[in-house]
Amino acid sequence: MDEGARIRFGPLLFGDSQPLIGFGAWAVGGAGWGDPGEEQERLAAIRLAVERGVTCFDTAPAYGAGASERLLGTALKPVRDRVIVATKVGPHDDPRRSLEDSLRRLASDYVDLVQLHEALERWEWQLEKLHGLVEDGKARALGLCNATAQQIRRAMEIAPLASYQGPYNLFDRDVEERELPLLRERGLAFLAYRPLAAGLLAGSYDEPPAFAARDHRAGLYWFKGREFARRRAVIERLRPLARQAGVTLPAFALRWLLARPGVSVVLAGARNRAQVQDNLAALEGPLPADVVAAVDEIVAAAFRLPRALPRANREAQTWGPRERFIVERLDGTHTAEAIAAEWTDQGAQPMVAAQVKIFADQLEAGRLAQAS
Ligand SMILES: NC(=O)c1ccc[n+]([C@@H]2O[C@H](COP(=O)([O-])OP(=O)(O)OC[C@H]3O[C@@H](n4cnc5c(N)ncnc54)[C@H](OP(=O)(O)O)[C@@H]3O)[C@@H](O)[C@H]2O)c1
Repeated sequence: MDEGARIRFGPLLFGDSQPLIGFGAWAVGGAGWGDPGEEQERLAAIRLAVERGVTCFDTAPAYGAGASERLLGTALKPVRDRVIVATKVGPHDDPRRSLEDSLRRLASDYVDLVQLHEALERWEWQLEKLHGLVEDGKARALGLCNATAQQIRRAMEIAPLASYQGPYNLFDRDVEERELPLLRERGLAFLAYRPLAAGLLAGSYDEPPAFAARDHRAGLYWFKGREFARRRAVIERLRPLARQAGVTLPAFALRWLLARPGVSVVLAGARNRAQVQDNLAALEGPLPADVVAAVDEIVAAAFRLPRALPRANREAQTWGPRERFIVERLDGTHTAEAIAAEWTDQGAQPMVAAQVKIFADQLEAGRLAQAS
C-alpha cells in the first residue's frame, strides 16, 4: 500500500492536524438535488478536487442509489492510496452486505472510514458489526453520524470510535452545545456536513426557492417562511465581510467553519467544476478570529428567541411536555440550541434547535410570544 493515505490517516481521524476541506459527494450522485446535470461534469468535479489537493471524500450508498460511490470509484482509482474515502451504512441495512456492495462500487478493497448513517433502533448491534468489518480490514476506522452526545458516549463503549459526522454551518449550530466539546475531550474527529446549508450559503436566493419535488431541499425548513427571511437577512450582512476577506460567500462560510475549534473536515458539497473551484478558495485557511466574532454577533442578533407572554405559560400547562419545556425557557436568556440540548440530555426523544425556532415562530404568530 502507498504510505500517502496512511500518513494522513492518523492525524485526520484523531484530530491533531489542521482542519481539511473535504469533498461531499451527495450531489454528484445525481439524485435528490433537482436536475442532476451531465454525469461527465459531475465526474470532472471530483477529478478537479483531486487535482487541487483534496484528500478526503465522503459518500454513502444512499447517494444516487450507489451512483455517488461508483463515480468516486472511477475518479479516485489512480489516487486511491493517497486519499481518504469515507462511506456509510444505512440505519436499516445489513452492515456487511452494505459495505461489501459499497466496496464493489468504489472499486476498492477497503474504505478508510465506515460510518453508521443514523443511530436508529438497532444502532448498537450495527456498530458492533461494523467494528467486526474494521477488524476484517474492510474499513480502516469506524464513525457515527447523526447521533446524540449520549449515543456517542455509548458508542465509544461498544467499539473504538474514530469520528462523528453531523450538520454544522454558521446557522445550524446544535453540535456546539454537547457533541463538539465531547469529541474534543475524547480526541475524536468531527466531520461537518452541510457546511453551506445545502447551498443557501452560496447566497443566490433572494426569495424562497421553489425546488422540484424530487429535490430534497423542498422539505428543508430554512428554505421557507421566517427562517428563510432571517437567514437571508444574515447573508446580506455577511456579503461585505466576505468582500473584505476577498472571497465569495460560500468560501467565506467554509473558512468560518475551518476556524471553529474541533472541526476536522469540512465536507463541502459541489456538483460541478465551478463550485469546486469556488469552494477551494477556502483552502486559504480559517477566518481570522475578529471576523469569526463579527459573524457570530450578526448570527446571534438575528436568531434571538422571542419571550413567552404570561398567557403562553398558562396555556402551556395543557400542552405536551416538549412544548411546556420550550415555553418555560423562552425568557430572553436561552438560545434555541441550548434549549434543544437540555431537552435531549434527558435521554428521551432528541430535540434540535430547528424545532425550538419553528415552535417559537408559531407562538409569536399566535401572539403568545414577542420579540425580546
Ligand atoms: N451524514 C449525513 O446524514 C449527511 C447529510 C447531508 C450531507 N452529508 C455529507 O455532507 C456533504 C455536504 O453537504 P451537502 O452536500 O448536503 O450540502 P452543502 O455542502 O451545504 O451544499 C452543497 C450544495 O450547495 C451548492 N453549492 C456548493 N458550492 C457552491 C458554490 N460555490 N456556489 C453556488 N452553489 C454551491 C450546490 O447545490 P446547487 O448547485 O443545487 O445549489 C451543492 O450541491 C454531502 O455531500 C455529504 O457527503 C452527510
